[in-house]
Amino acid sequence: MLILGIDTSCDDTSAAVVEDGRRILSNIVSSQAAIHKKYGGIVPELASRRHVEMIWPVVDEALKEAGIRLDKLEGIAVCHGPGLIGSLLVGSSFAKALCYSKGIPLAAVNHLEGHVFSVFLEETNPAFPFLALIVSGGHTSLYRIEGFGRYRELGRTRDDAAGEAYDKVSKLLGLGYPGGPVIDSLAQKGNPKAIEFPRAYLPESLDFSFSGLKTSVLHFVKKLIRERQDEPLKDPGLLQDIAASFQRAVVDVLVRKTVWAIKRERIKRVALSGGVAANSELRQSMSIMGREREVEMFIPSLSLCTDNAAMIAAAGYHHIMSQDTAGLDLNPKAYLPL
Ligand code: KG4
Ligand code: ZN
Repeated sequence: MLILGIDTSCDDTSAAVVEDGRRILSNIVSSQAAIHKKYGGIVPELASRRHVEMIWPVVDEALKEAGIRLDKLEGIAVCHGPGLIGSLLVGSSFAKALCYSKGIPLAAVNHLEGHVFSVFLEETNPAFPFLALIVSGGHTSLYRIEGFGRYRELGRTRDDAAGEAYDKVSKLLGLGYPGGPVIDSLAQKGNPKAIEFPRAYLPESLDFSFSGLKTSVLHFVKKLIRERQDEPLKDPGLLQDIAASFQRAVVDVLVRKTVWAIKRERIKRVALSGGVAANSELRQSMSIMGREREVEMFIPSLSLCTDNAAMIAAAGYHHIMSQDTAGLDLNPKAYLPL
């Protein structure tokens, strides 16, 4: 079954063609990073306007790269939330119109479900049940995945998501948006033990909290600026140490809480997903933890960690196979629990 996936939940316009929920024929992502960079974060109105301009060219490119005509599509899967409402409306309206005109089924996919399903696009897949840690710009959550459509939330962030903390710390260090990749590369040259930033482990809970860590970096930087006459953020060695120390704090919390979930749920299979799963230190630390504790780790390749439409098509395939289709009255939602 050939499914077109569409994701316009945030700032990237993405379309993909996936066969049988497993085989990627194309996965096009048009990034808006250059548009939002100068504002230090996403401007929702600019994001939705850009989606309007890009949606058809991106879908067209996905079809061309897959080598299929529009008539060959057997279904469309679209992300209907959570996300920016104006952005979501562009993708869902486009998908509804295309399904209506071609007479093919529409699947409404939760963005988080899409992230979880990114691991099914790889060679080896987890058996059910497994634990899913989703770490992105909007979410940091742990789920127990019992089967297709059967998900139980074990914990979530009480404030900032991990990716949000990366983006905010990057902004205050003057490193721009998105913060994850730039902090990741700076951190590789810094000393992770240089500065002792706090870790919110929240004992007895599988919830997360990253706003204290972000505030602690802010206080550290303000103090530096007050105390040093030169411009401390122009010192590359210092920036590298801040990046490395911040990143180590994030990774320590994510790994430790995953270990707690493994013990509590007695499940030795973990799938990592979301934009922050592209982080080199997190990938490495999770792999080491997996080896040491004999836990099977499933970590998607980099392009499947950050937002993409192939993951939406992969999840949508199961909706369509189980006749769980959406009507033309589908309304996207900014807030949409999994
Ligand atoms: O999943 P995603 O593309 O979009 C959301 O659903 O939010 O995640 C985007 C987030 C951003 O906050 C970005 O800074 C972060 O993922 N990110 C990273 C890395 N690459 C992207 N964070 C840490 N290290 C990276 N290499
Ligand atoms: Zn995402």
